[in-house]
Amino acid sequence: MCIKNLLQTGTMPRFKTILVTGGAGYIGSHCVVDLVNAGHEVVAIDNFANAVGDDEGSPALRRVEEITGKKVTFYKADLLNKSQIGDIFDKHPIDCVIHFAALKAVGESMQQPLLYYQNNLLGMLNLLEIMRSHNCFQMVFSSSCTVYGEPKHLPITEDHPTGNITNVYGRTKYFIEEMLKDLSIADKRWNIISLRYFNPVGAHPSGLIGEDPTKEFTNLMPFMAQVALGKKPVLTVFGNDYQTPDGTGVRDYIHVMDLASGHVAALNLLSENHVGLKVYNLGTGRGVSVKELVEVFEKVTSTKIPLQYEARRLGDITAMWADATLAKNELHWVTKHTIEEMCTDFWRWQTMNPDGYPKKNVKTSVIVNGKSSS
Ligand code: NAD
Ligand code: WQD
Repeated sequence: MCIKNLLQTGTMPRFKTILVTGGAGYIGSHCVVDLVNAGHEVVAIDNFANAVGDDEGSPALRRVEEITGKKVTFYKADLLNKSQIGDIFDKHPIDCVIHFAALKAVGESMQQPLLYYQNNLLGMLNLLEIMRSHNCFQMVFSSSCTVYGEPKHLPITEDHPTGNITNVYGRTKYFIEEMLKDLSIADKRWNIISLRYFNPVGAHPSGLIGEDPTKEFTNLMPFMAQVALGKKPVLTVFGNDYQTPDGTGVRDYIHVMDLASGHVAALNLLSENHVGLKVYNLGTGRGVSVKELVEVFEKVTSTKIPLQYEARRLGDITAMWADATLAKNELHWVTKHTIEEMCTDFWRWQTMNPDGYPKKNVKTSVIVNGKSSS
């Protein structure tokens, strides 16, 4: 929708300029599409720790421009470099930050805990300090269902205990949530929403943007798609002896575009209310097993996924799905996409881009470091 229409219909967002950290990443880039379409000006930053890109910019954000027909301002910047981030706040009147930037590989976090604590915790501390010094107190934070640990009841509501986590990555999310609690109690100017995502999958329906991490990945959907493409020989199913209907692990898979609309809903709430700190689950409320997901994927893509059953993966939980009633009641947000659409859209992205984004000589019209490179 163009700005003129938004003004005419009186739905111009109150937060104009949104800083999106980790904007070149999987969820960040999809969210930028919805933010731009909702009339926000986006300033995105990323250090390319887990996204394709270079000094010329981000191919994902270039594609976002293609989808939306709007310019996206991008800075290659690292949250660990305070002066870089401070300069961006000096240049742009940031109204609110959506903080996606983090390292997220569970296995790597167990091998390199200091890297994860430094990047995720120090990155967040730097960001909060810079925000405060620039009088920006509005934030949406990417949290995770991983903060719940092994569920004591299902579906999981936001008041389920947190902190009983088996991996370092998950603990960084938990520690940050605790930090945000302390901050919002100590300083009432802060207005923060922490969104606990369940299992984001799928891609933008255009097939132009999707998931293309530069680090080794182990998540089910991208791995399954690699098998379907013939790039990996077999999908290992970790455990078929769980106390679930078919013995395989159960998760709440959510389409990445539903997740994106959840962020726009969170911004709307923050722009109209002072919430202090609020936490919301973003999930569909439906549990789907590994076997079920494989069957749907095979059906909608007309492919065959060879399976190999192995022992349970260390640290995996049995089953987890969300109670998303709070987000429905307070954010006025519900998911729209089916499991079939999650698989179809991911497959479209994979088949249109079997090697992911172009890796070299990225010609981008994205505004890089404040200057247009087109
Ligand atoms: P992603 O790795 O695709 O995106 C994160 C981006 O942040 C990457 O592009 C990376 O290069 C960037 N980044 C990391 N450290 C940075 C730093 N110090 N400075 C600047 N940029 C930095 O991951 P994603 O799947 O898009 O996840 C986005 C957020 O959502 C993360 O915080 C993640 O922990 C959280 N989350 C993800 C999932 C999931 O399954 N994908 C589930 C729950 C929560
Ligand atoms: C899903 C199901 C596996 C791969 C991870 C993070 C969590 C959160 C979401 C960020 C499980 C099974 C998987 C494979 C398989 N991320 N599986 N074979 O483990 O729910 O959560 O991503 O916050 O923190 O831990 O997601 O996609 O890895 O696994 O059988 O090759 O698929 O055992 O049951 P998970 P996943």
